[in-house]
Amino acid sequence: MSEPRKLYVRSFGCQMNVYDAQRMTDTLAREGFVEAETAEDADLVILNTCHIREKAAEKVYSELGRLRVAQEEAGRRQMIAVAGCVAQAEGGEILKRARGVDLVVGPQSYHKLPELIADAERRGGNRRAGIVETEFPVEDKFDFLAPPTRAAIAKRGPTAFVTVQEGCDKFCTFCVVPYTRGTEVSRPVAKILDEVMRLADGGVREVTLIGQNVNAYHGADAGGRPSGLAELVRRVAEVPGIARVRYTTSHPRDMDDDLIAAHRDLPALMPYLHLPVQSGSNRILAAMNRKHDRELFFETVEKVRAARPDIAFSSDFIVGFPGETDEDFADTMDLVEKVGFAGAFSFKYSSRPGTPAATMDAQLSEDVKSQRIYALQALLDRQKAAFDAACHGRRFEILLEKPGRFPGQLIGRSPYLQSVVVEAPREAIGTLAMVEVRGVSTKSLSGDIIGGEFYADGAVGHTHFPGQSETVEA
Ligand code: SAH
Ligand code: SF4
Ligand code: F3S
Repeated sequence: MSEPRKLYVRSFGCQMNVYDAQRMTDTLAREGFVEAETAEDADLVILNTCHIREKAAEKVYSELGRLRVAQEEAGRRQMIAVAGCVAQAEGGEILKRARGVDLVVGPQSYHKLPELIADAERRGGNRRAGIVETEFPVEDKFDFLAPPTRAAIAKRGPTAFVTVQEGCDKFCTFCVVPYTRGTEVSRPVAKILDEVMRLADGGVREVTLIGQNVNAYHGADAGGRPSGLAELVRRVAEVPGIARVRYTTSHPRDMDDDLIAAHRDLPALMPYLHLPVQSGSNRILAAMNRKHDRELFFETVEKVRAARPDIAFSSDFIVGFPGETDEDFADTMDLVEKVGFAGAFSFKYSSRPGTPAATMDAQLSEDVKSQRIYALQALLDRQKAAFDAACHGRRFEILLEKPGRFPGQLIGRSPYLQSVVVEAPREAIGTLAMVEVRGVSTKSLSGDIIGGEFYADGAVGHTHFPGQSETVEA
């Protein structure tokens, strides 16, 4: 028998790409591909790219250069495919700019990978004739992508992403996603539940429902009627074995009352909500075409907090959007002060080809953007540190996910996605444990297990181990 072919997928960008990488791997496993440990070791390398900011998009070219040098040094020929959002946005450009690419495939065409690879193989070394597949096909790729095997699920651990919605119709003026992922499409409820049941059967305990605009979800239910995200979350939480549900990324405009009620009614829905706001200035929010003002954001936060008092928020921010004045930026700082975030991602505005904001007047200098991002990140870091410090002494449930750095340690996740280091045996991976938080550092918490699924008889471990720093009071 010949050696199985080896595949390596390197993903950049958001969770959608992480999920897609798994689906591509599962689909190619059916074609006899096994996973390689490193890119160098693979027969087929897929770069699963991100186009959201210029820096992210440029990465693909440096990666391609690196791969080419490695191939030349090793004197071997690998097949190179570029997938993801840069593939969709720049298609043929990639073949022109970078030698050595056999295949460019957009996110809506991953189910065609087996035939595209066979086609590229037939073309052999003739790389000039690289294949580009970036049409938005009529069929639904999810109907053709292979599900993971039980072994693949087990290997990926007790948490999983499930794409429930893809694409975006919001057209924020800075954003490429509506162009790279296409219009909003929601998967039917039954297909998502099938996938979640399969994951649960393989040992998954926590599912994160993902979509570029996940709370705009409106997939068909059994009767063909549209179901909202709240209803979907309820159904997913009922799947035996599933203990925790999250969803991301939400748009403030789509936080409807039903979804807010789900935060009140469903203990399995984790009290941590990523709700990107981008800016605190109404003038900039309008120029961004976010379709809401700061007042709506405050109201939404208040409503969700009333429904679930222990909830914490994270968000995304852009500084230096065209025309942003000192006053607009002060409004963003003010919004952050007023809401208080447990985590956040913040970015300097990056001009993206083809988006309306790219041609707006008053593009700001790198200097101004740098000053503002520095100030904003300092504030967000202080808020995160304060949130973490306030967890000291708290008791909450963590899901034990993987071994820690030192023997005898496991790492779990708190309801707020903080990493929590505890002392526990490997067999406890995949179980929920109640911990009391004993240590807080910038990267993680540590704690003592005081009970949980693995410790039903009350025999719990005590924690004091090397490498874990003492509490930092913020
Ligand atoms: N659908 C989500 C976010 C998708 S992109 C939403 O509506 O919020 C993830 C984040 O990247 C965005 O929230 C935004 O903060 C950032 N981002 C998107 N385009 C950007 C650009 N051109 N420059 C800088 N940051 C950008
Ligand atoms: Fe981009 Fe706006 Fe759509 Fe989010 S809502 S993906 S930021 S266009
Ligand atoms: Fe990037 Fe595409 Fe996700 S542009 S952020 S990989 S949807």
